[in-house]
Amino acid sequence: MINSLLVVPSGPFEIPDRVSTPVHFSLIVPTYNEGGNIEKIIRILTGILDQEFPNNYELIIVDDDSKDLTWEIAYSLMPDFPCLRVMRRTQEKGLSTAVIRGWQSANGDILGVIDGDMQHPPEVLLKLLIEVDNGADLAVASRHVEGGGVSDWSIVRRFLSRGAQMLGLVILPRVIGRVSDPMSGYFMVRRNSIAGKRLNPLGYKILIEVLGRGQIDKIAEVGYTFQEREQGESKVTWRQYQEYIFHLLRLRFSTGKLGRLKRKVDFPIGRFVNFALVGLSGVVIDMGVLYILHGLGHWGLTRSAVLAGELAIINNFLWNDLWTFGDIARTQRLPSQIFKRFSKFNIICLMGLILKVLILNVFFNFFHLNAYLANFLAILLVTVWNFWLNLKLSWRVTETK
Ligand code: GDD
Ligand code: MN
Repeated sequence: MINSLLVVPSGPFEIPDRVSTPVHFSLIVPTYNEGGNIEKIIRILTGILDQEFPNNYELIIVDDDSKDLTWEIAYSLMPDFPCLRVMRRTQEKGLSTAVIRGWQSANGDILGVIDGDMQHPPEVLLKLLIEVDNGADLAVASRHVEGGGVSDWSIVRRFLSRGAQMLGLVILPRVIGRVSDPMSGYFMVRRNSIAGKRLNPLGYKILIEVLGRGQIDKIAEVGYTFQEREQGESKVTWRQYQEYIFHLLRLRFSTGKLGRLKRKVDFPIGRFVNFALVGLSGVVIDMGVLYILHGLGHWGLTRSAVLAGELAIINNFLWNDLWTFGDIARTQRLPSQIFKRFSKFNIICLMGLILKVLILNVFFNFFHLNAYLANFLAILLVTVWNFWLNLKLSWRVTETK
């Protein structure tokens, strides 16, 4: 009966590989207390999709028994929108599991997710679908590619989002490193890329679960600007950040293809050698400037070291931008892009400096290594850290792989 609520699936989080009445795609809108947004987003999304895919899509609202009766508002709209489905969950809760339960009930060859609070621009949807229709297994709306951004997030939220991404690059590089915005909650994925896989979602980041357990070969990214909320507020709390870290660790050690280096390690060794040689030139600059300022100029040691360190970072950035990552940098020549790369490079290198001092102290005070050997090993480890994070964050190019 079309006007009844969807039955809530239970049991394992596994997407069926075939359905009785297939449609082109199913879009899940997970909601919790979106009573002020739900009618507007249903009208906007159906307005776009009824034109492009008349009767060949599903819009599935998966609500976790919102106190503001979001599900009931959506349900009351069903008679006006033939492609609208509504699921009211009362036994389970959480953004990621809501999306998967929605996908388990869906009939689309392509499965997607969009936030229900108007922060994900609906018009990007068609671009994502075009990418999947053109062969991508996964099309992600990204804030970190050309045309992407966030409206006016606080520095703290930006820092937390980027920090979460960097942490992911350290714990789960081959998953988080595959996309520029692994935190995105706005994407489309081909059903047969995730069908039959035993998913084990946690928290907010459904995309890393799809990337970690799905059979995803070709990825496309579409830039979008994350909008300001009009009604209601974000449900993100510290708990989501804790769940994210636990989710990364669980993925890292639970799936064979990530726990062991089953696939060829895609570590660009040639670039790394260039990066290390540039780093060496930085050491020469650092030592030379330190000698001139502190040795000859009798400046204070700390002031000399900080200035010497910063000049070395500038030297390294220029050579890396020209040589190590020159092929990538040449595709992003705008002054704003160069400045953005330099800022990220600087932050990563300064964090690397802190990391180096920590590692040096561990090697010297706990393993009782000779100070210079400890420093050399610390520099080696931090060079890998600096290289990998700069490759993935500063000189990032995203194209359909
Ligand atoms: N069913 C259900 N259950 N929906 C939920 C839950 C839940 O427990 N928690 C949140 N939602 C819904 C919200 O109603 C909204 O539609 C969407 O999930 C996003 O929730 P927000 O609380 O608004 O998240 P955000 O805006 O701070 O962050 C979003 O955007 C980021 C960037 O794309 C989320 O999608 C993040 O996962 C994403 O990283
Ligand atoms: Mn939101």
